[in-house]
Amino acid sequence: IKVFVPADSAALALGADAVAATLQAECARRGQALALVRNSSRGLFWLEPLVEVQTAAGRVAFGPVQAEDVGRLLDEGLLQGLGGELCLGPTERIPFLARQERLTFARMGVTDPLSLADYETHGGWAGLRRALQLPPAEVVQEVLDAGLRGRGGAAFPAGIKWRTVAEAPAGQKYVACNADEGDSGTFSDRMVMEGDPFMLIEGLLIAGLAVGATRGYVYIRSEYPLAIARMQEAVRRAAAAGFLGADVCGSGRAFELELRKGAGSYVCGEETAMLESIEGRRGLVRAKPPLPALQGLFGRPTVINNVITLASVPLILARGAAFYRDYGLGRSRGTLPFQLAGNIRQGGLVEKAFGLTLRELLYDFGGGSRSGRPIKAVQVGGPLGAYVPESQWDLPLDYEAYAAVGAALGHGGIVVHDDTADMAALARYAMEFCALESCGKCTPCRIGSTRGVEVLDRIRLAPAPQQRGEQVELLRDLCDTLLHGSLCAMGGMTPYPVLSALDHYPADFGLPAA
Ligand code: NAI
Ligand code: SF4
Repeated sequence: IKVFVPADSAALALGADAVAATLQAECARRGQALALVRNSSRGLFWLEPLVEVQTAAGRVAFGPVQAEDVGRLLDEGLLQGLGGELCLGPTERIPFLARQERLTFARMGVTDPLSLADYETHGGWAGLRRALQLPPAEVVQEVLDAGLRGRGGAAFPAGIKWRTVAEAPAGQKYVACNADEGDSGTFSDRMVMEGDPFMLIEGLLIAGLAVGATRGYVYIRSEYPLAIARMQEAVRRAAAAGFLGADVCGSGRAFELELRKGAGSYVCGEETAMLESIEGRRGLVRAKPPLPALQGLFGRPTVINNVITLASVPLILARGAAFYRDYGLGRSRGTLPFQLAGNIRQGGLVEKAFGLTLRELLYDFGGGSRSGRPIKAVQVGGPLGAYVPESQWDLPLDYEAYAAVGAALGHGGIVVHDDTADMAALARYAMEFCALESCGKCTPCRIGSTRGVEVLDRIRLAPAPQQRGEQVELLRDLCDTLLHGSLCAMGGMTPYPVLSALDHYPADFGLPAA
């Protein structure tokens, strides 16, 4: 009997290893045969550890299961897919999962992450095989036609970036995958690397073939030790099976892959700082131009894409551009894995086509706040994203609609706060974060962020409204300088959380409503 116990970081943090060990010991004691598979998480974190049992009618889920529940669950018929209060029924019919459109995350939690056989059986390598048969320019065209935009946050069309690298003068070119996922409340890159690493390798291979790059790097943050270990093992297995190396799948084309570990700096997720770090220097942002697409890693043309961008590519090649661009709306095509975190009852991963609303995410998927109190503010797009007030929760989640209200979808991170949140304190936190993480290269960010913390302190502590008003004016002026004078998004986007907090929650700053 096949039982699945996830070995993703979130499940492990909640006791999945102890559940797996107890299950094995209990089954051995009862003389019950057991085939234990360590799959990855389905992304329903409030139900982790989520144990699944293979039955004739499909998989049945139980959760959240603790080691001490195992004996009782076995008595209740766990192995037959039967059980008491922890039984959630058929996994695929859990509403949180059933309502999703899982394209990139289709295999997540279904397969054994490091099994090449599982990967292949569930559609793996089909995109690569097609790419190997197409002229490189057609592979680029397919990505262009799919409308895939960079999922790291900036949403630049991936196909245009690839074309720029492909058309750059011949010679050594690179593909660099940004797996530094520094945004607060985000974990989709981590889930891919831990839960479906061959998909990322396949995406990197396709990118390499499309632009003529024979070498790839994956820059993974040091805070993700399990992702690093899984990726290392996946690269080893893919190479042993002939997918990486001097002769990819007998095609005569080469692609080598190397992993690099970050050292804990947020700004190393900025693409040029990441290149510096890979090259062995301090993660200082480079001025653009030149674009990395033309002069990137070691001065050579380089495709830099985030994990989810590259992970979306195998499916686009396997199913065709039209299939992918059928999802979404406007210029936001395909799906985005939204990551629900913070004060939310049902936190986890929701992959949906662009166009659903924040309200649907918060209530239909998230089930409201975890504290049970009203939700006050939602930070969308990481620590540099705006706080979105309730008046904007019905906007479609697409890049343009969010940009129009001074917000950003970013990498799809959604961090929820209830009505106890002090928005002035959160604005201060954003400035302080910038001051701590600034690489120091440009003045608005290096000095402006520290002055910003001081101005916010003066606003919060000012005894009279008039003094507060003067400081608010100063803060707006400073944000304007940061917005327009910073070299990269670190300083350039810090005003997003600060100004959105100020504009939408003036009372928290001791100011009258606008
Ligand atoms: P950007 O708009 O400067 O560039 C986007 C990408 O397009 C870059 O790779 C750039 O090199 C490329 N590009 C621009 N013009 C091009 C052209 N003509 N041809 C080829 N390539 C071209 O944005 P940036 O600074 O790279 O990223 C900012 C974003 O990063 C923010 O929107 C933020 O949401 C996101 N971010 C994500 C984090 C995460 O954890 N995923 C952390 C921090 C920020
Ligand atoms: Fe460095 Fe900040 Fe300037 Fe970016 S904005 S280059 S992080 S000092």
